Amino acid sequence: MIANTVGFIGGGRIARIILGGWKRAGFLPAEVVVSETNAEALEKLTAQFPTVRSTPDASWPLGQMECIFVALHPPVLLDALKPLVGHLRNDAVVVSLAPKVTVARLTEALGGFARIARAIPNAPSLVGAGFNPVSFGPKLDETGREQVLRLLRPLGACPVVPEEHLEAFAVLTAMGPTYFWFQFQQLREVGRSFGIAPAELDAALAAMVVGAAQTFFGSGLSAQDVMDLVPVKPMHDAEEAIRIAFKSRLSEIYQKLKV
Ligand SMILES: NC(=O)c1ccc[n+]([C@@H]2O[C@H](COP(=O)([O-])OP(=O)(O)OC[C@H]3O[C@@H](n4cnc5c(N)ncnc54)[C@H](OP(=O)(O)O)[C@@H]3O)[C@@H](O)[C@H]2O)c1
Repeated sequence: MIANTVGFIGGGRIARIILGGWKRAGFLPAEVVVSETNAEALEKLTAQFPTVRSTPDASWPLGQMECIFVALHPPVLLDALKPLVGHLRNDAVVVSLAPKVTVARLTEALGGFARIARAIPNAPSLVGAGFNPVSFGPKLDETGREQVLRLLRPLGACPVVPEEHLEAFAVLTAMGPTYFWFQFQQLREVGRSFGIAPAELDAALAAMVVGAAQTFFGSGLSAQDVMDLVPVKPMHDAEEAIRIAFKSRLSEIYQKLKV
């Protein structure tokens, strides 16, 4: 059974990404209820998805949804679950989208409710090209697991991974697009200054980026040999600073998520 009724606690960016991905795939569940405390975020979400119902109360009707996504940042997440205690239907599945907060802590915050999954989605889910690794709590049965996967599949890949790897994916695949998007935009701006028409330029850059990834990850050549394929590197002198930023900043945020 595909969940027809879905709730979100937190209606910010990732809720909009997931709803957008479902909408694009023609998969928007029949009933979506969102609890969002920020008026501006709620307005943005409901303007984009007018069929979504908002509720100021996280216990009802949210607790009656078949699947509830917890789309909150770790510091506020556990407190926000309190209103759900005792209000969840027996066959509901709670899916946390946050790093750091484990299934064990979620179960405890939910008063022992253990039909829990965790997923770390990424923004390309908006266009059905997401990479959304998921982990299941030990007490979630096959039906519940399949329920979660059916909701994630229209958004892209959803491999089942060990829970202890989710923070690594948060740093690599969830935050990952941000390491590249500003560079895409910079290339676009430079390209425009060269006089290439916007549509032609975007198509060219998208093809280059996809092709570069396929060559790096799929050609069978070593990383060194791939990088040696193009001898002219006009930005070579800036590379070291970027390498250092990758190493230090990403390790730092990973350590914070693992504490
Ligand atoms: N964005 C992504 O690409 C992405 C990818 C993977 C995982 N995630 C995870 O998803 C979670 C949410 O991220 P996000 O990017 O969607 O953040 P976001 O855009 O800040 O959305 C979270 C929203 O929840 C609201 N909120 C705070 N406390 C609440 C409560 N008690 N009840 C209901 N709403 C509440 C926030 O309002 P205020 O702003 O007023 O606090 C905010 O509008 C995080 O754990 C993040 O790590 C995000």
